Amino acid sequence: MEQKRPMIHVQDVRKVYRMGDEEVVALNRINLKIYKGEVCCIFGTSGSGKSTLLNQLAGMEKPTSGRVVIRGVNISAMSEEELAAFRQKYIGFIFQSYNLLPSMTAVENVAMPLMFCGMEKRRREEIAKVLLKRVGLSHRLYHYPGQMSGGQQQRAGIARAFVTRPQVVFADEPTGNLDSRTTEEIMKMIMGFARKYNETIILVTHDPGMVRFADRIVTLKDGNIVGDERKEGYCE
Ligand SMILES: Nc1ncnc2c1ncn2[C@@H]1O[C@H](COP(=O)(O)OP(=O)(O)OP(=O)(O)O)[C@@H](O)[C@H]1O
Ligand SMILES: [Mg+2]
Repeated sequence: MEQKRPMIHVQDVRKVYRMGDEEVVALNRINLKIYKGEVCCIFGTSGSGKSTLLNQLAGMEKPTSGRVVIRGVNISAMSEEELAAFRQKYIGFIFQSYNLLPSMTAVENVAMPLMFCGMEKRRREEIAKVLLKRVGLSHRLYHYPGQMSGGQQQRAGIARAFVTRPQVVFADEPTGNLDSRTTEEIMKMIMGFARKYNETIILVTHDPGMVRFADRIVTLKDGNIVGDERKEGYCE
């Protein structure tokens, strides 16, 4: 069978933090291929290296050795400027603490990533409104983050992450601050976008309850991959 090119190819990635004389091996040697349309959960206990791995995948940090290749491009060799442009174009983020700008309305927050594509304001806001409607926030378009509940802010965060139709969306504990019912709603929403746009999603969690939403579960322990399971019926 012909081997498809992975969306993300992690090759021998190692991340060591130096703290004075001490070395912390956060990632030992990680090899991983993630394909288009895959919703991949990075699972493990606190301190296992999940956020560190996500930071290397998204180009927020550079590996100590090894490389991360996204869509055939070695992002580990990029300059900060190239990386910033790459992230704006191809990557969306969903944060545990939502990270909406407090001085902007829901529409302005969601429209923001489109500014970097050089789109004019009216068009940006039109698209943002469509996305906000899709996440059930048509009644909160002009609310500021401080006037919205956590679950509503995270819906706006999801709309913002998908507004540019990125190649990959990264989410680090996206429901870490939400109750179980809202978690379910938010995860269904993220999965809905993933399926509709055939989007690749990397989801970090320590919560075993979240794992059921993913197609694939990569388990980390002490900076190593100790498990990699695909759900039955999933076809690469
Ligand atoms: N900037 C840093 N400097 C030094 N050590 C770090 C740094 N970032 C992470 N570490 C260490 O690397 C290891 C992995 O941390 P990481 O944040 O990736 O864990 P995690 O799996 O995301 O945990 P949690 O579930 O608590 O968020 C930990 O031992 C942590 O102390
Ligand atoms: Mg973490």
